[in-house]
Amino acid sequence: MTTPKPIAAEAAAGAASLPSGEGLPDAATLARWANEMFAAVGGAHASPISPASPASPVSPPSGTPTGTPAPGTPIPPATGGGLPAGPKAAAAAAQARSPVSAALPAFGASPFGAALPGLPVPDVPRPDSPVALETLRAADLRHPTLPSVPSPSFAPYPSYDPGLLSSAAAPSFYFLSAPAAPAAPDLWAPAPTPAPASTTAPAPGPGPAAIPAHRPFDVQSVRRDFPILGEKVHGRPLVWFDNAATTQKPTAVIERLSHFYRHENSNIHRAAHELAARATDAYEGARREAQRFLGAGSPEEIVFLRGATEAINLVAQSYGRKFVQAGDEILISHLEHHANIVPWQMLAREREATLKVVPVLSTGELDLEAMQRLLSERTRIVSIAHVSNALGTVTPIEEIVALGHRAGAVVMIDGAQSVSHLPIDVQALDADFFVFSGHKVFGPTGIGVLYAKSRILDSMPPWQGGGNMIEDVTFERTRYQPPPARFEAGTGNIADAVGLGAALSYLQSLGLHNVERYESDLLAYATPRLEAVPGLTIIGNAPHKASVLSFVIEGLDPVAIGSALNQEGIAVRAGHHCAQPILRRFGHETTVRASLALYNTCHEVDAMVRVLHRLASPGVRRTR
Ligand SMILES: Cc1ncc(COP(=O)(O)O)c(C=O)c1O
Repeated sequence: MTTPKPIAAEAAAGAASLPSGEGLPDAATLARWANEMFAAVGGAHASPISPASPASPVSPPSGTPTGTPAPGTPIPPATGGGLPAGPKAAAAAAQARSPVSAALPAFGASPFGAALPGLPVPDVPRPDSPVALETLRAADLRHPTLPSVPSPSFAPYPSYDPGLLSSAAAPSFYFLSAPAAPAAPDLWAPAPTPAPASTTAPAPGPGPAAIPAHRPFDVQSVRRDFPILGEKVHGRPLVWFDNAATTQKPTAVIERLSHFYRHENSNIHRAAHELAARATDAYEGARREAQRFLGAGSPEEIVFLRGATEAINLVAQSYGRKFVQAGDEILISHLEHHANIVPWQMLAREREATLKVVPVLSTGELDLEAMQRLLSERTRIVSIAHVSNALGTVTPIEEIVALGHRAGAVVMIDGAQSVSHLPIDVQALDADFFVFSGHKVFGPTGIGVLYAKSRILDSMPPWQGGGNMIEDVTFERTRYQPPPARFEAGTGNIADAVGLGAALSYLQSLGLHNVERYESDLLAYATPRLEAVPGLTIIGNAPHKASVLSFVIEGLDPVAIGSALNQEGIAVRAGHHCAQPILRRFGHETTVRASLALYNTCHEVDAMVRVLHRLASPGVRRTR
């Protein structure tokens, strides 16, 4: 946490060179106001402000203390989006909580609800390690209706070297923006040739792999981090298998949000008071957390937006409008979520460009040979999901990026469904754009990230105008901030960005490699058990899948299956999953989707499988 420094010198110097006569107070007035304010606040701000002092507007001189917390105020360590009170305190708080059974809204009557007797919830030991999972699996399979299916072998999950979890560098805080270099390029000028895709090997980045976690993966300990998992639904323990729609939030995130509103809440960047400094530090700390999480080269490559949808729209509206001309091509795939289809359709219509679609094989894998044929010298943008939300297919993004670049296109990866399952390193991938939503990665709703390479962001015009994104405004013209502020017009979702930082920090503390391995074992456990349900077909059987199980059961309506599972406390999604083209490719309008996350267990999979066996048994009424 950095408290506002006495508006040192540098800020005042910046103010001094602001253009006069445009409604701004002069530098001397600003300095006087600030000195009066600090005099009133008292404490840490010793040096008076001199409007005549030289230097840069941002960093304090070396050796300058980064600030002093206000007396009596609990302030978290300066780890950006990290835990205010440390993981131990969060875990203790989670353990201390009393389980609450909230009243649920009434669901529509299930055609199966009445016919289904209450299913026994097996009394099995709670696994606290991968070894315990083995035990649990054996215990659960005592149920007579479950056929025995081969089990995957659970390898031990490595722990990482403690203490190496990098903490954020001391946050830099800036009070007043420095005036920019006057000559601003015309960012809207249509570009006959797009910003070139990389031709050189990417610089090795810090990369998530370099960030170790500080505890071994233990699913029961992880579950205790998520208070909502103690909920009961229809008298049963909640089983949350709707993670592809949104994920649950750990105590670390819930407490970080609460801490923000209790101790830090303010608008950011341009204010001469303590809370603005705290809020700015927290927000910019979260940006650095996102940078580390993605392995980006600098925090300036991270733009905070509402989510993946808004990020894709930004790229289409800003980069796309500038660089896509009539006759150009945009390449997406048949696997895409509507969020990665509609913005490109809109752009293609507006620019008289062509939208091309990479087909999908019967396994749910992308047809890479077809992709090579579809790429041409007119391809300007390739935008492909890393993980399909409807089928779970993990696409070969390294190859996709390389193929796109070979054709001279920029490549965007829609990481909405991958960030909670797989480690990401945007520099190693050489991705030009990468987008994701906070709520799918254990963070809050309404916040997400666009990563883009600096030189590409620099070439992009703003897509929304307003406060925060400008350097200087007159009635004749506006000069814009450099990225990322250029793309963050207006007051952003400050608290939720901070919450997202805490979520990313939490996830990294578990180790994404551990999470990936655990979920891969869980998927290997669940797949044959689902397939053993009579009449059940899994849609999407790519060899490389994330833990998404989309299925239909012959003669049963997916929505009715979802309702019946809900009666047993099991939350799945039934519908088109905002991916109608890919479901139709497999001959379905809707499926049931169970999407598993790091806090799900074999025990929960068995509970779902038992319900499905009952539904699929010949005596149960069919609805279609
Ligand atoms: C693959 C994919 N892309 C994009 C999105 C859009 O995410 P959001 O609605 O959070 O913007 C989703 C949401 O489910 C998704 O699964």
